[in-house]
Amino acid sequence: MNVYDGWRIAAMLTHRGMVQTQNVSDADIIILNTCAVRAKATDKVFSALGRIRRAKKPSALFGIVGCVAREAGATAFRRIPDLNFVLGPQSYHKLPEIIENPDAKLFNIDLGGLEKFDSLPQMERSPRIAYIPIQEGCNHCCTYCIVPYTRGRELSRPFDACMRDTIHAAKTGAIEICFLGQNVNGYKYTDENGNIYRLSDLIRETAKIPEIMRIRFTSSYPTEMTDDLIDMFRTEPKLLPFLNMPIQSGAPEILKRMNRPYSLELYCDIINKLRIARPDIQISSDFIVGFPGETDSDFEQTMKIAQQIKYINSYSFKYSPRPHTAAAIMPNQIQENIKAQRLAALDNCLNEIQRDFNESCVDKTLECLLEGPDKTGNHLIYRTPFMQQCIVAHRENAPELAKIKITAANKASLRGKIID
Ligand code: 5AD
Ligand code: SF4
Repeated sequence: MNVYDGWRIAAMLTHRGMVQTQNVSDADIIILNTCAVRAKATDKVFSALGRIRRAKKPSALFGIVGCVAREAGATAFRRIPDLNFVLGPQSYHKLPEIIENPDAKLFNIDLGGLEKFDSLPQMERSPRIAYIPIQEGCNHCCTYCIVPYTRGRELSRPFDACMRDTIHAAKTGAIEICFLGQNVNGYKYTDENGNIYRLSDLIRETAKIPEIMRIRFTSSYPTEMTDDLIDMFRTEPKLLPFLNMPIQSGAPEILKRMNRPYSLELYCDIINKLRIARPDIQISSDFIVGFPGETDSDFEQTMKIAQQIKYINSYSFKYSPRPHTAAAIMPNQIQENIKAQRLAALDNCLNEIQRDFNESCVDKTLECLLEGPDKTGNHLIYRTPFMQQCIVAHRENAPELAKIKITAANKASLRGKIID
């Protein structure tokens, strides 16, 4: 979501005649787009602001947008008094106001509107993978998560607006569409005639667009994985056989205190249905270790479920207490060294599963999407349908979508040869 927001901000300013620079000391405006999900990310923002302050031209405007702006609010100006703007995740479209009135401080952390999506100019060229935000915010209120505070309650964009953006992306270069939302499979829009549109409707319509060859969506909440959506994996071959559906923990007691009220049976049932609908589907998860009160045996259950489901491409994090969340004031906070030990053990286990899966791909032929050259320029990086990186020898006019025979694998990536 932040990558997408960054593109829209860049498009908004280039539309006004500005150009991008990677060099802070050249810039006339410096915008830090920020994430507040863990404390480390927030801390990094303030140390980066300190560095930018020293490196920038005296006349350059600088500030923050996104979730840290919303989390820190007006205290951001107290911490860094010469900051020019602080704009929350739903008000960054107001950024041009600071260019028009550079002497005033610009502050807006309001929530509740999705007007930013429609008030920003469309990008002239879309990237090969176009992110289309379809809903924002979250009503789940997991007890560890700051997102319901920073991005607010769940709002779904009108179906027509989502399709307009998708068609625009397809006509301007996109091959893959990734629908975005904090709770993307909770997408639900009711139009003025009472017609209800869900994510499955968006997928079905998007699959009809000839330019679009691959569709995916992220991130999904387990209990919103409804049968109509599961069925899409059976009926729409353009929907990639890959799904991020975070479980967070494998211990029922922890899930309860995380306020994620699903049983492991229900979660596994959903996965079974998905595998029946699409036998080659692979699942990825996010995990939090060291949630308050997590015992060794709770953690063992997380390790067990990771091995049982055989998640690929997963993310795991140490629990980080966040302001405005219930878990931050729960008793039995876990010591940092225990969190670190558990994270290392889980990461080991997830890496091993990933390596096994990667090795199982050797000798197979996968249809992959070109991402671009690697740093050396000697290779091209492609993405498999399961979001693995696949490296091939560089060549001119390489196809954007290529059939690649996988020749080797390690835990991080695959190697292959384009089949002509
Ligand atoms: N501490 C650690 N990880 C967190 N996440 C969300 N909040 C926290 C927190 N307080 C993780 C969850 C979520 C991902 C985006 O970030 O795993 O799925
Ligand atoms: Fe945060 Fe995701 Fe839980 Fe919503 S469902 S509160 S975004 S972790």
